[in-house]
Amino acid sequence: MKVSPSIISSRLEFLHDEISRSVSAGASSFHLDIMDGNFVPNLTMGPDFISAVRRSTDLELDAHMMILNPDKYWKVFSKAGCDLFYFHYETPFNFREARKGIKEEKKSIGIVINPDTPPEKIVDFLPEVDKVLVMSVYPGFSGQKFIPSSTGKIAFLRKYIDENGLSCQIEVDGGIDSFTGAEVKRSGADIIVSASYIYGGKIEERIGELLRL
Ligand code: DX5
Ligand code: ZN
Repeated sequence: MKVSPSIISSRLEFLHDEISRSVSAGASSFHLDIMDGNFVPNLTMGPDFISAVRRSTDLELDAHMMILNPDKYWKVFSKAGCDLFYFHYETPFNFREARKGIKEEKKSIGIVINPDTPPEKIVDFLPEVDKVLVMSVYPGFSGQKFIPSSTGKIAFLRKYIDENGLSCQIEVDGGIDSFTGAEVKRSGADIIVSASYIYGGKIEERIGELLRL
């Protein structure tokens, strides 16, 4: 199982160290929760913060854009150093145009669905995205409880991707610990995101546990 730590729950006063420890422990990318106070009722990081993360690691940086105007802002986050952009199905955006621009910059694109969005809605995007992200909590805050019905959505996407010979990877975000991580692995996920579980304990141990699932 690949692990993508969400640094939102790290000790931000020691961000560089928290990132270095996560890299040494075996993280394969970092998950950046970008919130605008509109699409979700919380505010987090902007481009300057992300530039600081970029200076701390060479690993892939995935922007989870929980913002109302992802079309308008992905370029600033690209300039700040993000490598992949997750667009929420629930936000208005022009997929064709965004994909074209992102690919011109030799970067990656992903689609993300909220807990109430059925996976059937996004199958047409799957051949054209690098990753699909299944939200297993309502976006906005870390530390929430995993929504059990997420496993059925992951299994649906796994089957669709395999049956159609697609290369898109499945990532799962929200309420992941060693128990729920094992469940999403069984359902067919390739990558798990975790914030409070990893940074609420000893980083090396927690990432190690998740990697071994
Ligand atoms: C929620 C974010 C998640 C969150 C995960 O809005 O998209 O990435 O930070 O936090 P945990 O792992 O604590 O559920
Ligand atoms: Zn996220």
